[in-house]
Amino acid sequence: MKALVLAGGSGTRLRPLTHTSAKQLVPVANKPVLYYGLESLAAAGITEVGVIVGATGAEIRAAVGDGSRFGLSVTYIPQEAPLGLAHAVLIARDFLGEDDFVMFLGDNFIVGGITEVTEAFRTGRPDSQILVTKVPDPSAFGVVELDEDGRVRALEEKPRFPKSDLALVGVFFFTPVVHRAVRAIEPSPRGELEITDALQWLVDEGHEVRSQPVTGYWKDTGNANDMLDVNRTVLDTLAPRVEGLVDTESELTGNVVVEPGARIVGSRIVGPAIIGAGATVVGSRIGPYTSIAADCRIEDSDVEYSIVLQGARVCGVRPVHSSLIGREATVGPAATAPGAHRLIVGDHSRVQICA
Ligand code: TTP
Repeated sequence: MKALVLAGGSGTRLRPLTHTSAKQLVPVANKPVLYYGLESLAAAGITEVGVIVGATGAEIRAAVGDGSRFGLSVTYIPQEAPLGLAHAVLIARDFLGEDDFVMFLGDNFIVGGITEVTEAFRTGRPDSQILVTKVPDPSAFGVVELDEDGRVRALEEKPRFPKSDLALVGVFFFTPVVHRAVRAIEPSPRGELEITDALQWLVDEGHEVRSQPVTGYWKDTGNANDMLDVNRTVLDTLAPRVEGLVDTESELTGNVVVEPGARIVGSRIVGPAIIGAGATVVGSRIGPYTSIAADCRIEDSDVEYSIVLQGARVCGVRPVHSSLIGREATVGPAATAPGAHRLIVGDHSRVQICA
């Protein structure tokens, strides 16, 4: 069995981070979200992985390489534009051959991995197997309607009036019959080849599409709030470890990771929290539920329930809450005009200030 990992897309909901970076590489507890997915594929015994890449392909290739450090063998499949999840299957035809495969969305996060569901698919081998979970806002997802016996009856992509509260999770199992489906369907009104349409084609043609509820925590990390939520969930599982320097004026409480080369000076770190390699934290309070990436500098600030990406600087700001701060970004007080906010903010950024 092979895997097809989708790491292209446009990532509009995570702008401005996705102007300069792939959304699948935004870190959760200082590790790119995509790595968790690749690790779960390896844990499920899958080794041959095709990775769909788009405009951010170079960065994904640099981060994942040949896959050997995950125990995987990776083949890159360039997609000319984000033309849909079923389009990704269409262009992966040569790589997939006549093998069964799992399609994994590179920005999805499943605590507990996919080993059990992969086994269920291998054992029962339906034509396709999907995962579903109940969500409060189904219209933002692919929505699945089941019949009285729990069989998949109908699927719809982001419907205005959802017929159920079951959302499609970003892990799909397919036998080669799906190649007929993705060739048979037409692009949707938004111009994409939808995987929901390919699944509906399978159902309509009498093929068995089995659904299985996700038991553990699942999130699509497509927007900032979901990213922060996943970060919180992963930090909760963190084992404390201090490999950097913590001075005697500092205090660490709860589960805190201080990576090698990090320096904590006159600060309080409230776990769960992680301070990345080479980061410096001075006169600050960090946490809980906060990831500070490598080489950041946090000075005279309070940062809580946030993700700060590599090389960012936060100086003299209290408190920072529920924030996602991009690489090399600077957050600080206005020096020249007291009482005024001074902003140099990238395209599609979102700034909320307590005024
Ligand atoms: P989505 O989150 O559905 O799409 P997107 O990345 O375009 O995001 P946004 O809605 O914020 O603009 O994609 C799910 C995953 O699949 C994600 O990892 C990107 C990837 N993807 C592809 O690789 N190719 C595609 O054609 C599409 C639509 C998505």
